[in-house]
Amino acid sequence: MDAQPTNPSTRAPARLASPNEAAGGIAQDSAPALGQRPRDLRRGIPSDSEGRVEQEVPWVLPVGLHNGSGRVVSVQGPVVDVKFTASQDVPNVYDVIKTRTADGRGLTVEVAEHLPGNIARCIALSSTLGLQRSAPAMPMRGGLQVPVGPQMYGRIVNVLGEPIDRKGALEVTETRPIRRPPLGGKINPPRSNETPELLETGIKVIDLLFPLVKGSKNGILGGAALGKSVLTLELIHNIVKEHYGACVFTGAGERIREGNELYHALTEHQVLDKVMLVYGQMNEPPGARFGVAFTGVTLAESIQRENKDVLLFVDNVFRFLQAGAEISTLLGRVPSETGYQPTLASEASEFHERIRSAQEGGGSITSLEAVYVPADDLTDPAVVALYGFLESIMVLSRERVQLGLYPAVDPLLSSSSNLDPDIVGEHHFEIAQQVIRALQKYEELRRIVAVIGLEELSQADRTIYARARKLQNFLTQPFFVAEGYTGKPGEYVTVREAVNGCERILSGRMDAVPEEKFYMIGVVP
Ligand SMILES: Nc1ncnc2c1ncn2[C@@H]1O[C@H](COP(=O)(O)OP(=O)(O)O)[C@@H](O)[C@H]1O
Ligand SMILES: [Mg+2]
Repeated sequence: MDAQPTNPSTRAPARLASPNEAAGGIAQDSAPALGQRPRDLRRGIPSDSEGRVEQEVPWVLPVGLHNGSGRVVSVQGPVVDVKFTASQDVPNVYDVIKTRTADGRGLTVEVAEHLPGNIARCIALSSTLGLQRSAPAMPMRGGLQVPVGPQMYGRIVNVLGEPIDRKGALEVTETRPIRRPPLGGKINPPRSNETPELLETGIKVIDLLFPLVKGSKNGILGGAALGKSVLTLELIHNIVKEHYGACVFTGAGERIREGNELYHALTEHQVLDKVMLVYGQMNEPPGARFGVAFTGVTLAESIQRENKDVLLFVDNVFRFLQAGAEISTLLGRVPSETGYQPTLASEASEFHERIRSAQEGGGSITSLEAVYVPADDLTDPAVVALYGFLESIMVLSRERVQLGLYPAVDPLLSSSSNLDPDIVGEHHFEIAQQVIRALQKYEELRRIVAVIGLEELSQADRTIYARARKLQNFLTQPFFVAEGYTGKPGEYVTVREAVNGCERILSGRMDAVPEEKFYMIGVVP
């Protein structure tokens, strides 16, 4: 680790500490050696109009108190109160303050509230284990800045933008603030190109019924263990491999094991070098699980500014909102009637309003967000808070999982505003409508069959019933990233092949083929 304080006058790329370079594998800020002159901590970091800030990292805590610094006066879990001598020293809300634990680990906290007595109530962005009262705290005059740029591809960083993948230090040439006021401009700006550009995913059920459009926001909703993460990973695999150069994956509040598995899966499928990863998983305090969504979107924006199209994956947006609820409770705010934070809607919108395509040309951000649905209840307030932002909603159903129908997207519960003849074309639209009608009819007939048996159905209904079952099977698909679960090699199916396959089943040309032949296949044989 770079133990020498960087000279602020040189703009040499600073280095961020990497965990494997620090003793014990934990990322630590370097403590100034005895007798070493503390770094000249400048007040009011200059920033240009882009919000770019000259920042030196790693930050070194001064020995003793400096002008304008404060003291930790209370630590209650992830809530840290910092007291300042003069009221003008109290940093702004959302500014960050750096402090240090008893064992010398650097800790960043974000100001959440101002209390009487020059106290800033802060939310910790990493564990407060070992933080003591009276620890010196240095306000950084400005919000959290994270490094951006091509060096972030293939790396995993935390909410602070520090590498956590033990692959050495990051070159920091440019940093961006993770929080910024919403962009001005029109609400619902017209799409940049006349016809929205389709993004083929190679997954039949998505391409056929819930097509992805560049610059759209898409949700994958489902209860626990229905395949949200597997579907997300398959989408990364297919889209990044087939078309895209850029992708940001934000791991918010999910299992650490999953973050690790994702990393290895991306390596195995040779797409890691096109993906930037930001993790604030379950082990992190709520401040990190909340902030990580903004770190992710900041990285996506930085790619977009280079006129590139970028995919932003978030697993899991529900955990981000849940972290917001935890912070709200920790700050003693009265929850709304439904038990969530009173600011649920504004937090959901603060995040989603940042995911928008550049208005004057430029690249697009397409988001794919996994949403955990608590107790499979689609009316949960946190889930409902997201509906308004999402153009397509793919709902995974437990019933389908129980039948082994993967991906478990329920075509009747899901919806997409992109399934439009102007976007997908007349023919595709017509076939998709026929598929939905057939599956709707199947739902009705299935209940009747359960009571009176298949033999009692009319001949016409029996045909519809059989074709719908074939369609249902045809919409399953072996995934590249699920080969370990299914034992079948993955298949990429083009939109044409998917539409064509459904058309052949609907037209009756496949009536002689038994339904099992359509289960977990790619294209129609
Ligand atoms: N496409 C798929 N093919 C086969 N098995 C799957 C598929 N998707 C999910 N599964 C099974 O479901 C389990 C849970 O999936 P996961 O994506 O981790 O769920 P979630 O993220 O919704 O909690 C996986 O471990 C796997 O066994
Ligand atoms: Mg998951």
